[in-house]
Amino acid sequence: MAAQSSAAPRPLSAGRSGPLTGRFRVPGDKSISHRALMLGALATGETVVTGLLEAGDVMNTAAAMRAFGAAVTRDGDGTWRVRGVGVGGLLEPTGVVDFGNAGTGVRLCMGLVAGQPISVTFTGDGSLVKRPMGRVLEPLRRMGVEVIARSGDRLPLTLRGAATPLPIEYRVPVPSAQVKSCVLLAGLGTPGVTTVIEPVFTRDHTERMLAGFGAAIEVETDADGVRTIRLEGRPELKAQHVTVPADPSSAAFPIVAALIVPGSDLTVEGVLMNPARIGLITTLIEMGADITLENERESGGEKIADVRARASALKGVTVPPERAPSMIDEYPVLAVAAAVAEGETMMLGIEEMRVKESDRVAAVAAGLAANGVSVREGPDWLAVTGGRVRGGGHVVTHLDHRIAMSFLVLGFVADRPVTVDDGAVIATSFPDFEASMTAAGGGFTEEQAA
Ligand code: S3P
Repeated sequence: MAAQSSAAPRPLSAGRSGPLTGRFRVPGDKSISHRALMLGALATGETVVTGLLEAGDVMNTAAAMRAFGAAVTRDGDGTWRVRGVGVGGLLEPTGVVDFGNAGTGVRLCMGLVAGQPISVTFTGDGSLVKRPMGRVLEPLRRMGVEVIARSGDRLPLTLRGAATPLPIEYRVPVPSAQVKSCVLLAGLGTPGVTTVIEPVFTRDHTERMLAGFGAAIEVETDADGVRTIRLEGRPELKAQHVTVPADPSSAAFPIVAALIVPGSDLTVEGVLMNPARIGLITTLIEMGADITLENERESGGEKIADVRARASALKGVTVPPERAPSMIDEYPVLAVAAAVAEGETMMLGIEEMRVKESDRVAAVAAGLAANGVSVREGPDWLAVTGGRVRGGGHVVTHLDHRIAMSFLVLGFVADRPVTVDDGAVIATSFPDFEASMTAAGGGFTEEQAA
């Protein structure tokens, strides 16, 4: 059985904090970082990436791309360079490809393998081996990929790509950008046109970046918002310069912290404002948050802005199910905002939260209850009633970086410190979280005596 905490678990506590102020930087977007390395590895020439997220998940993708034959290097100033092997040019890795905690990394990479007759064994950490892979294996099997799995459709498993895969038309059954992207990346190595039909709009970084690298890809959206994406297979991708904007999913933590800690006034710089990623901002504004977008501009084909958040009296709202894909990773920290809002916040249509790095509905409910917050959960909903937060509880993170960060933010407004069992897992997506939050005014301590 794989371990349920990091190699060196480090309990961490956060206690009541003074105002969070000043300017705040969060690292590069995780979704875009993974894709930049993967498309760079398939392009001809040298792709240059600035602002890449240098955190566990993305470093595993960098290692995987090296194992497939791409040259991936970092300059002293933090610029990354990827010398690609061309579509169809991936080498068979000599060892097992371990993606650690990264669901996006492994699911997208499985798509890359589809179009080449190479065998690749994938594995991951104690969280990733529990996550469902059937959602990507099903379309890959239809394209001709052979799957050898030891425990159902879970990792570890081996894929053998097809020499001549079949182009498919695939209607994505769950709102998942990872599934959509896996099929599109498999389509890259497949002769003919691969079609993905997406009934619910999810983050579109793969489509945008494929177009940027020169693939023939078209997207049609009908009157009901159903998107049909067609990709011509076996293109020549041309190396690009990719600028990675700040990750809105990481920005969520300082934004919520500033809203709930009295007297705060914090500006998070250069945050990605892709419409498929800003559901949290919409929700917080509905709750009465004082959030302003400043210096709105374009960078690397995406809208970005500085997000200024000032302490606000929040009210509970109902978050509609159709908003879930645009804030799927942000519900844990929304639940923290809800814990101090007036009245109840009801989050609907969130069943996908149960198959993230942990079952986040259960982890959030347990963590809030342990800290004296009134919470109810259903199969696909979570209801949080705000009030004074007693704190003093221990939170089990289940190898989930966002659970750890969310509950540390809760500690900033709790009567007694909140302790997470393993702060080390934060390195998955935001290695400087503790230092950046401390610099802004947040208060951390090593674990409190139980
Ligand atoms: C991601 C898609 C989402 C999200 C994940 C990143 C991506 O997952 O939760 O953190 O980069 O495509 P799903 O596609 O499973 O919803």
